[in-house]
Amino acid sequence: MNFRINSFEEYQSTYKKSVEDPEGFWDGIASEYQWKKKWDKTLNWDFEKPDVRWFEGGKLNITENCLDRHLAENGDKTALIWEPNNPDDATVTFTFTELHEAVCQMANVLQKNGVVKGDRLCFYMPMIPELAIGVLACARIGAIHSVVFAGFSANALADRINDASCKMVLTSDEIKRGAKVMDAKKVVDEALSKCPSVETVLVAKSTGNDVPMQAGRDLWMHEEMSEAEAEFEAVAMDSEDMLFVLYTSGSTGKPKGVVHTCGGYMVYAGYSFNNVFQPADDDVYWCTADIGWITGHSYIVYGPLLNGTTTVMFEGVPTWPDSGRFWEICDKHKVSQFYTAPTAIRALMACGDEWIQKHQLSSLKVLGTVGEPINEEAWHWYHDVVGRGKCPIVDTWWQTETGGIMLSGLAGHSPMKPSFAGYPLPGIQPVLLDEKGNLVEENNQEGLLAIKYPWPSILRTTYGDHERCRLTYFSHFKGYYFTGDGAKRDDNGMIRVIGRVDDVINVSGHRIGTAEVENAIDEHPDVVESAVVGYPHDIKGQGIYAYVICRSMPENQDQMRQEILDVVTKEIGKIAKPEMIQFVTGLPKTRSGKIMRRILRKIAEGDGDKLGDVSTLLDPSVVEDIHRGVLVV
Ligand code: WT7
Repeated sequence: MNFRINSFEEYQSTYKKSVEDPEGFWDGIASEYQWKKKWDKTLNWDFEKPDVRWFEGGKLNITENCLDRHLAENGDKTALIWEPNNPDDATVTFTFTELHEAVCQMANVLQKNGVVKGDRLCFYMPMIPELAIGVLACARIGAIHSVVFAGFSANALADRINDASCKMVLTSDEIKRGAKVMDAKKVVDEALSKCPSVETVLVAKSTGNDVPMQAGRDLWMHEEMSEAEAEFEAVAMDSEDMLFVLYTSGSTGKPKGVVHTCGGYMVYAGYSFNNVFQPADDDVYWCTADIGWITGHSYIVYGPLLNGTTTVMFEGVPTWPDSGRFWEICDKHKVSQFYTAPTAIRALMACGDEWIQKHQLSSLKVLGTVGEPINEEAWHWYHDVVGRGKCPIVDTWWQTETGGIMLSGLAGHSPMKPSFAGYPLPGIQPVLLDEKGNLVEENNQEGLLAIKYPWPSILRTTYGDHERCRLTYFSHFKGYYFTGDGAKRDDNGMIRVIGRVDDVINVSGHRIGTAEVENAIDEHPDVVESAVVGYPHDIKGQGIYAYVICRSMPENQDQMRQEILDVVTKEIGKIAKPEMIQFVTGLPKTRSGKIMRRILRKIAEGDGDKLGDVSTLLDPSVVEDIHRGVLVV
């Protein structure tokens, strides 16, 4: 694609142009893609409603840009390298021609089973090729994918299926994860007892173990695929037709379905991938995320394929069969760009440098990080030990809602500063605001991170509830998209994202809403009330700390803790289990009944003796009681 930026000077001039004439700028970028019909209007927007439309009147199919357009010149190039959970099993690769065929076959399978444009399809699958193929097939037929991370519980899955009234679920028999085997089909079966909209379940074989199949509803994917034609004309989508829904947690209520649309998402996913990672033609790029999160959508599947870059998909975990697995894979597939999360970096750093020294890592050119702030120690270890001091690091800040990377260096060109994401990508106009919405003009001051102008992959709505989208992102500060993050800008204009300023906890790069965990805990019949906060955790970034009031102080606290963990696992999934549970008799509340989380956070952080003013509390003595009973973190 002809939009690669090749120096920092070029970045600066491109940025300037993108701000002075955003429509002209994005018009030029969008023209690099293959459209079935050119758009009539580049941008229509109103952040108050919100109503944002990019490339209206344009028609396209993102999979033609990911697959078909590469066939003539690069059909034999490797598109996807799949690395299995067990290193003794065979790697599977797909050329662009083969991936195109597989996606067309899968699209035919979907069509044969009644899927039409606009239907919602839920994916609950391990990281196997069928997941990427299924997602692309869904996009090719014009259906809307909703990928649910396969660590969520049956209840959480059912909520997501119902919220978008999905017609079909794509899953597998089971899931291999390191030495463990986990259920997939059984979880889906349990969820579906509450999901009337689902007509068909397509089941991929992963472990090959027996799982129950329901006649008339469940079909084996490999059987359906074996009969399917390898050609399928991509459905023409309007630029603003929905491409996918992806559920993410917020500070209140149940997770919301973030909606992205076809044209703008495609333009930005491809553009940002190309410029942040700077891949060369024969580079191999590997992002270790799961496709269940936005990072996997934009930077395992769409971003690399749009650019014709070879992308690696890994089924397993970083520490099995040993802690050298990531580095072994880097050597095995000669990975050039490696993209992971700070939590993984810290966990592997704790395993010792010997795991790295065993491997060459000579193919690495660029290291990326995403998902949470990276601490300086982890940054230096990543740079010096993994990158042997020769690979630039791109610290990429973005969100499910932004669709693509917003703040980041462009690898090899931008200046780097540990723990700073750095500069905005062209077209991105960040500002720092104070609580009243005034611009924080002074440098080195903390402010609230907001964006003042639309970019092509900004979320369009939250599925089925537009008002919630407006309230969550566009109502805090008039005329801005509010991110929920706090940030600082240094004297050179580089931005450091500090973390969430709302009631969202970032555990190992996964977003978890405190309200969601509280609601889950409160499902336990003996629990009266609970309050959940985040606290600093060496490996996970943040851990979950729960204060729980029971009907009476539990006699066997260990047993009650286990029961609470079980209920959270059942309601949400293992990723939301609190590390710390403290039983208390009261919670610090204001006279109007609001829980003062600031105080609970301080206590959980071990700063319970520095609480400041607690005089606005209804009953200041509860604070003393909680602090006395605090668990040692
Ligand atoms: C939140 C978004 C989008 C990638 C995966 C997470 C935090 C993300 C960084 C970074 C500091 C970061 C923010 C953001 N975050 N990347 N490089 N530095 N913080 O997506 O689940 O939507 O979470 O992750 O707090 O708001 P997500």
